[in-house]
Amino acid sequence: MAAAVENMLQNIDADTAPASAGVDKLETMIQLSALMNSTLETEEVRERAIEAASTLVNCEAVSLLLMDRATGQLYFDIALGAGADRVKNIKLEKGQGIAGWVAEQKKPIIVGDAQNDPRLFKKADQKSGFRTRNMLCVPVSTPTSLIGVLQAINKRDTTFDDNDARLLTAFANQIAVALENVRLYDDLKDSLYSVVQVLAETIEQRDPFSTGHAKRVSQYCVSIGKQLGLSKQQLVNLKLAGLLHDVGTLGIPDGIMQKKTRLTEEEQKKVMNHMNLGVDIIKNVKLLKQIQPAIKFHHEHFDGSGPFAMKGYKIPLFARIIAVADAFDAMTNKRPYRLACGYDAAMAELKAKCGIHYDPKIVKAFFDSKASIAARKHPLLPRR
Ligand SMILES: [Fe+2]
Repeated sequence: MAAAVENMLQNIDADTAPASAGVDKLETMIQLSALMNSTLETEEVRERAIEAASTLVNCEAVSLLLMDRATGQLYFDIALGAGADRVKNIKLEKGQGIAGWVAEQKKPIIVGDAQNDPRLFKKADQKSGFRTRNMLCVPVSTPTSLIGVLQAINKRDTTFDDNDARLLTAFANQIAVALENVRLYDDLKDSLYSVVQVLAETIEQRDPFSTGHAKRVSQYCVSIGKQLGLSKQQLVNLKLAGLLHDVGTLGIPDGIMQKKTRLTEEEQKKVMNHMNLGVDIIKNVKLLKQIQPAIKFHHEHFDGSGPFAMKGYKIPLFARIIAVADAFDAMTNKRPYRLACGYDAAMAELKAKCGIHYDPKIVKAFFDSKASIAARKHPLLPRR
C-alpha cells in the first residue's frame, strides 16, 4: 500500500506544471484518493497521503488535525514540514486558531496574510520556528460528522487560490471517508475484544482451578510471538487465540469440568473434543477466522503423536506456541489431583519434551522471552 502511494507521489513530482495548473492534477488526486481509501490504518500511510496533499497544492507544510471526540479539541495527528515534530503535542480548543475556526464554521478558508490575521495561533509558529505566511485550511468531514481539519501552509512562490481550495477539499473528503472506515473497524474490533474477554472469563468461572489461565496463556503467547518477531496484527490474533484456546470447554458438561478426581478414559475423550467444539463456537465470527487452526490444533504433539496426528512444522505456528504456553501455565498451577511445580521444574519438563511434544524453537523462544524471565524471578511461583 505504502509503495503504491510512493509511486503515485513520484508521478505527481514528475509533473512540474505551474501552480495555476493545479486542477490538471485532479485525475492523479482521484487515483491517489482511491488508493488511500482502501486503508488509512497505519500512520505511515496517513503520512504519505498528507505528503501527497502538500505536493498537490505545492506548499511548504501540511498538517492533519483530528478532533478528540470526548473533548472537542483538535490535536495534530500528522504534521509535515519544518519544525513539525515540535507542534505535535499542541491542542486547540474549539474555535481556537484558524484550524479551530474552520472546525467551527465547517467551511474552507484561504488566509492570504496569516501574520496579520487575528485568528492565527502564533504559539504553533513559536514552537516550530516556522513562519506562517499564508494558509489554506479545509474541514475533514463526512456528511454526518466533523473528523478534523487539513491545513496547508505557505504556498510556494505565490498564494493559495480557489483551485487549491477545491483540490484540498476533495482530498479532505476522501481522507474523511477513509478515517471513518478505520474508526468503524476499530470500534468493531474493540467490541470483539470485549466479547472475547467475557467469553474467556466465562470459561474460567466453570472451573475454579483455571482462574486466570486463559489470560496468562495469552500473555505467554504474545511474549513468545514478540520473541519470534511476529507482526503487530499477528500478535493481536495470537492474543485472541491464547484467550480462546479452550473456548470449546463451554460445550463439556459441568460434571466433567468440575470433577475433583482423575477423569475416566471416556471423560478424557469428551474433554479432548474441546478443540472441535471450540472451532464450532467461533466459526461464524469472521474476525476470528484466522485463529481457528490454533484452536483446533493446540494439543498436537511435535512428533505427530497428538490427537490429529499432525506433525512438526505442519502444525500451525500459533498452535505450537499455545501448546508451550498452555503446558507451562498448567504445570506451574495447582490442579485438584496434583500440586503446582516451580519455574525450573516446568522449564525442565518443556525442554525434556522438545521435539516430542513441543517445537524446540518455540520452547527456546519462550525461555528467552520477557514473560519467562519475569516468571523465573517471580517469588510466588508456584502460585497456588
Ligand atoms: Fe486445550
